[in-house]
Amino acid sequence: MSSGKPDRYAVFGNPIAHSKSPRIHALFAAQTGEAVEYSALLSEPGKFAQDVRKFQMAGGKGCNITVPFKQEAWVLADELSDYAARAGAVNTLAFRADGSLYGANTDGIGLVRDLQRNHDIRLQGKNILLLGAGGAVRGVLQPILETQPESLFIANRTADKALELAQDFAEFGQVVGGGFAAVKGRFDLIINGTAASLQGELPPLPAGCLSAGGCAYDMMYSAKPTAFVEWGRAQGAAQALDGLGMLVEQAAEAFFIWRDIRPDTQAILKKLREELAVG
Ligand code: ATR
Repeated sequence: MSSGKPDRYAVFGNPIAHSKSPRIHALFAAQTGEAVEYSALLSEPGKFAQDVRKFQMAGGKGCNITVPFKQEAWVLADELSDYAARAGAVNTLAFRADGSLYGANTDGIGLVRDLQRNHDIRLQGKNILLLGAGGAVRGVLQPILETQPESLFIANRTADKALELAQDFAEFGQVVGGGFAAVKGRFDLIINGTAASLQGELPPLPAGCLSAGGCAYDMMYSAKPTAFVEWGRAQGAAQALDGLGMLVEQAAEAFFIWRDIRPDTQAILKKLREELAVG
């Protein structure tokens, strides 16, 4: 295994320069002893499929896909995992020996693992509020519903998109959608899947919507607490978390798909958090 050249993987996105994925996979490779080389590759709109094929022809074994190419990767895949099929988005492609492409979506698994395993936050039987109705939320809905929460409310600025999503995923559990004005009652867990944190903004939530002992989770992360993490703290959340752990866990699942070995994510997450703080 360790003789010869390492197997090549990459992440495609635009922008891609600040992606943490190469660092995460380098840490996975060092920890597991797998001979893996992982780089960040910029693709341009309209050129994604061609760039993936080029990478495959050059001997690449698989790739991750981030914004804005996850839907295109879904179209490109020859076979899809269950989660990817329903998400309409692929964040992991494995290049098979026969040249075909297997597409998976590990984002939802990453989120659920980070919550349950890294932070001991149970989802089963809980009332969950999920903010946003874009690609990020669609990608995590099925795995969340499969944990069997008591209820799941999807709130979005554009209410119709939340209603549509709830309808699309109704077969997996108790899920309702609406606008932010329709957010009523208290929730054990509030997950922010909107792009608001990117702009330093906060989705308009009514005061008191987080239960005593409840948790706030932002799917985004940054060196400083995001606006939503700050909001969670101000609401007295038992835990107010950002999405760095989700990023590491979705990467670990991709690594498992490619290499059939699971990295120990705890140590790596701790290291990344330290590195993020230093900048
Ligand atoms: P992604 O793939 O990251 O989910 P997207 O599909 O463009 O990106 O979706 C962005 C999500 O963030 C949407 O739910 C969007 O709300 P709308 O559907 O109403 O556009 C939400 N969003 C973006 N900026 C926001 C803000 N400042 N406040 C609240 N929601 C915001």
